Amino acid sequence: MIDLRSDTVTAPSQEMREVIAHAKVGDDVYGDDPTVNALEERVAKLFGKEAALFTPTGSLSNQLMMRTLVKPGQEILAETNSHVVRAELGAAATFSGITTRTWLSPFGRLRAEDPLAIAAPDAGPYLVSTVAIAIENTHNFGGGTVSSIDEISTLYKGASDRGIAIHLDGARIWNAHIASGVALHEYGAYADTISVCFSKGLGAPVGSMAISTRARIDEARIWRKRYGAGMRQIGILAAAADYAITHHMGDLADDHRRAHYLATQISEIAPGTIDPSTVATNIVGLDLATLPISAAELATRCKDGGLLIGALGPNFARLVTHRDFDDAQCEQTIEILKRALVAK
Ligand SMILES: Cc1ncc(COP(=O)(O)O)c(C=O)c1O
Repeated sequence: MIDLRSDTVTAPSQEMREVIAHAKVGDDVYGDDPTVNALEERVAKLFGKEAALFTPTGSLSNQLMMRTLVKPGQEILAETNSHVVRAELGAAATFSGITTRTWLSPFGRLRAEDPLAIAAPDAGPYLVSTVAIAIENTHNFGGGTVSSIDEISTLYKGASDRGIAIHLDGARIWNAHIASGVALHEYGAYADTISVCFSKGLGAPVGSMAISTRARIDEARIWRKRYGAGMRQIGILAAAADYAITHHMGDLADDHRRAHYLATQISEIAPGTIDPSTVATNIVGLDLATLPISAAELATRCKDGGLLIGALGPNFARLVTHRDFDDAQCEQTIEILKRALVAK
């Protein structure tokens, strides 16, 4: 079975398992795990920040960072189809009393003027005050799109001038970095808080990181424990993440090449479902609105043919390339899709 539901489905390689087996560990709740301490320092430096905190998931690192920026009853602005809005199950409101207001961007690509136009800092006693803006790069449900560094820096400057902080959901910032050539520390320069994931395209089995100032990370460490995610000998996970950053980041370019190739082929099989020029990284989002087939039906037909894809809406299907998907499987995928898309 070829699995393109997500880039989270990869298994650790033999080399990564070796590194895990030999990792030095300690009890991280006591701050004693040397491997996770080193990884936190390494990742903070990569983004030009003071400190970082290992978390089990990207949702948790997003939530920890958002709650250090926004108090109960204040608001964060986020794109309508962003992960923090649609896929974290209301966590910001449930756990932190945060109000969210949204703007819509085509393909999730940031235009600085959109959030700035609706921002309402210091709104007084009548309206909710905006204190933060969350951006997502790459944008998952937008089809892995990369936001331009010019728009991001314009947003950061416009927001800081009005006392508004920027949170970057960088679950796939590695993909944005490889696709755009923009340095990780440059992305870091235009965000107050950041969340990154090791368990997506980088191919580690578990792990994410919250990144910011020392003060915010100290606060997040307390909240991580309060949420029940204080972990013990997590050097075995940090070692895998460290290996992935060193050895896997460059391979993301292959995932991007294969995704673009898939999109080009699909656009010929089923015109109108995808514009290949929108596929900059590893996500291929298919709009099936003009076809007489739902996303669920397409997913079922593909599964019968030996391919797993995501059905994320009635007419929206998603294919995500990753490091356990090679060129031969790419050709097989096209054959399976050909049969599935034209079947009556
Ligand atoms: C953009 C984005 N942010 C955050 C997350 C959350 O990551 P996790 O599944 O580790 O909670 C995801 C997961 O797919 C994501 O795509």
